[in-house]
Amino acid sequence: MSKILIRGAQVLGGEAQDVLIDGETIAAVGTGLSAEGATVVEAEGQVLLPGLVDLHTHLREPGREDSETVLTGTKAAARGGWTAVHAMANTFPVADTAGVVEQVWRLGRESGYCDVQPIGAVTVGLEGKQLAELGAMHDSAAGVKVFSDDGKCVDDAVIMRRALEYVKAFDGVVAQHAQEPRLTEGAQMNEGTVSAELGLGGWPAVAEESVIARDVLLAEHVGSRVHICHLSTAGSVEIVRWAKSRGIDVTAEVTPHHLLLTDELVRTYNPVYKVNPPLRTEKDVLALREALADGTIDIVATDHAPHPREDKDCEWAAAAMGMVGLETALSVVQQTMVDTGLLDWAGVAERMSVNPARIGRLEGHGRPVSAGEPANLTLVDPAYRGAVDPAGFASRSRNTPYEGRELPGRVTHTFLRGRATVIDGKLA
Ligand code: DOR
Ligand code: ZN
Ligand code: ZN
Repeated sequence: MSKILIRGAQVLGGEAQDVLIDGETIAAVGTGLSAEGATVVEAEGQVLLPGLVDLHTHLREPGREDSETVLTGTKAAARGGWTAVHAMANTFPVADTAGVVEQVWRLGRESGYCDVQPIGAVTVGLEGKQLAELGAMHDSAAGVKVFSDDGKCVDDAVIMRRALEYVKAFDGVVAQHAQEPRLTEGAQMNEGTVSAELGLGGWPAVAEESVIARDVLLAEHVGSRVHICHLSTAGSVEIVRWAKSRGIDVTAEVTPHHLLLTDELVRTYNPVYKVNPPLRTEKDVLALREALADGTIDIVATDHAPHPREDKDCEWAAAAMGMVGLETALSVVQQTMVDTGLLDWAGVAERMSVNPARIGRLEGHGRPVSAGEPANLTLVDPAYRGAVDPAGFASRSRNTPYEGRELPGRVTHTFLRGRATVIDGKLA
């Protein structure tokens, strides 16, 4: 393997430095490093981050290859600056056995664009009735440590308690999609003034908040670790803040779309804005940004949810829920958190690489940009401005809410263990 010299990049947004990659490893970080024998990447004005790690990606394989495959999803990930993604379990068949998680893990290894860490289902078939074989999935080649029924809530308190107790044996974590099912029957959007005006079934904040409150108390009771997926309300932030102040081992994520978009967009009836949990209000958006800045929310995770055209190009009520997000996440975070002064780039690295790798206990990712570390790196041009064009996406699906919207920042290069997966914004 050859040497690569990244010249003059602002490492974590700080002083300009050179970073020399030799083989799979960062060989040196400093100024005036020799370019001898190395391919040079001129990075003046660009920000170098540790490769991004997504704790929440839907790759759809096996079973919904019309939406995404492991290969297309990892290509999209590389373009977005990600070097590792956690693949959600709501596939067909569900990733609830060692066999299925090993299949996803193997497909990830073959893709070469991005590491894939499978997430295992908490319950058999995501049905919420019977605990899946968590131990067997952990002991498999896939080494599963994160378990989630995402798409569905583990709403039975006894099942949730048993799952939390079970994963303690191997320092695992349960990632909860917090949605009280009875309170959200027939729900189409956030419950509030807009849903009342449009006459659409509402999805009350309490449906999310009540489950989070229960689960942090359960985690405290059994002394386990719980992760809350896609926080979307100001009230959820308050509960997580309270739980952390009590010393409960809870972590939380927010999606880029919940940091930027509100339920006002539902007035367009464009199903591209239909997502679970739903887009909320301006007040919620501002609370989520503040919580991400102050550390109450630990990470940004995409909830990349690809859907084929036929599942989105239909009336609002019939449309599938979810948005693609891998290829736009960093730009949305730059706009909402960096360009607003709420976070610096070192803070972005914590929330999009270091913390997600730590929560998932994922080795080799989320490491410092320093000599001896694996060369998993992302180079961003923060001065770039451009309209989002889904035609250029590597994802098999195009259900982005940002089509035509101008967003800042562009991933120019992504390196996975020293190999460029993206060069000048294009897949290598
Ligand atoms: O919007 C969503 N889409 N939310 C989820 O929880 C599941 C996801 C999907 O799988 O499409
Ligand atoms: Zn979810
Ligand atoms: Zn999801």
